[in-house]
Amino acid sequence: MKKIVTIAGTRPQLIKIAAVSRVLRQSFHEVLVNTGQHYDYNMAGVFFDELNIPRPDYELEIGSDTHGRQTGKMLIAVEEVLEIEKPDAVLVYGDTNSTLAGAIVASKLHIPIIHIEAGLRSFNKLMPEELNRIVTDHVSNILFTPTEIAVRNLRNEGITDGVYNVGDVMYDAVIYNMDLAEKKYKLEDFQLYKQQYYLGTIHRAENTDSKEQLTAILKAFSDVKENVYLPLHPRTKQKIKQYNLESLIEQAKHIHIVEPVSYLEMLLLEKNAKGIITDSGGVQKEAYFMKVPCITLRDQTEWTETVECGWNKLANPLKDDLVSILHSIQNGNAIENLYGDGYASVKITEILKQHI
Ligand code: UD1
Ligand code: UDP
Repeated sequence: MKKIVTIAGTRPQLIKIAAVSRVLRQSFHEVLVNTGQHYDYNMAGVFFDELNIPRPDYELEIGSDTHGRQTGKMLIAVEEVLEIEKPDAVLVYGDTNSTLAGAIVASKLHIPIIHIEAGLRSFNKLMPEELNRIVTDHVSNILFTPTEIAVRNLRNEGITDGVYNVGDVMYDAVIYNMDLAEKKYKLEDFQLYKQQYYLGTIHRAENTDSKEQLTAILKAFSDVKENVYLPLHPRTKQKIKQYNLESLIEQAKHIHIVEPVSYLEMLLLEKNAKGIITDSGGVQKEAYFMKVPCITLRDQTEWTETVECGWNKLANPLKDDLVSILHSIQNGNAIENLYGDGYASVKITEILKQHI
């Protein structure tokens, strides 16, 4: 069997691995390297346990740091692994610092690179993710895109070889896990009622690293005046403390801040929400998959199809009134299959069998 080393370490990457590894491992010897970029149990361990992700072969335990230091430590540790394993290819997902580190090391060692979720662009180079994506795509050999727009973005940058539009592995994940979620959890477990709450997530640097911006977001949640269930990323929690914004939340009894939830819990919460307010790439797509109206708290999105078909609206609480936007999102068009047919992982594996 040919050997593929997968390098990842954040929450959304673990969810993607769960969908892909299940199929990939039927035809390849996969060696899993966990960079440890996310390390709290509810940001990492819970996904291994709940989604039956194979235990990593290497735990690099890099943890949090500035971008340069975090990526630098990953470069050193990943290089050591690749020198030992000498794989036929390296697989990276998405656009995090773990993606970037895996791609840079493999390219210097002349190991073919497979990039899943290639070709996405926000055209905002202030986003760390945008830089990570651009660099990763330009050194990758096999690029699996989730959408036709991603294929077009790559073409516009001169990347046409090795590009395969297979659909979104996160759609595979939702299809595989939705029933499991509904069997395992009930809304009453969260003291919530169908269509009687909004679900929110916030973690992007642009929303958390400015006191003004984060204050505006929390005030907007406060103005919603209906239950807002907020499984909060540790980064955002720290910033709320640092900026002394706790009192804003204490005053608004309908804002329920909880620890990050597991993926199956999240699917259930998303499906039954009246609306979703988020800055997460994955969550805005899941809102579309489940046909739940969504507000994305960003000035751009890489997932423009969700906006075009009416299920998603971009908003900035410093400029826009979230409450009136929430009320203005009606059901979008029921366009199906914007993100493939749920067999992206199968297609990926078949294509890799031909090329690796
Ligand atoms: C990272 C990715 C982002 C992705 C997100 C998914 C980069 C540059 N960003 O952002 O693209 O959307 O993951 O969630 O790679 N922290 C903890 N415990 C943890 C993890 C993080 O407390 O288990 C805190 C630390 O204070 C850390 C901060 O969160 O400094 C940010 O974590 P980091 O991984 O650097 O970035 P994310 O915002 O999670
Ligand atoms: N998610 C989760 N628990 C949470 C918040 C998010 O399981 O408390 C899932 C969510 O359903 C989606 C993924 O994590 O599948 C999105 O990850 P995140 O928002 O951290 O990153 P992004 O997609 O923006 O890179």
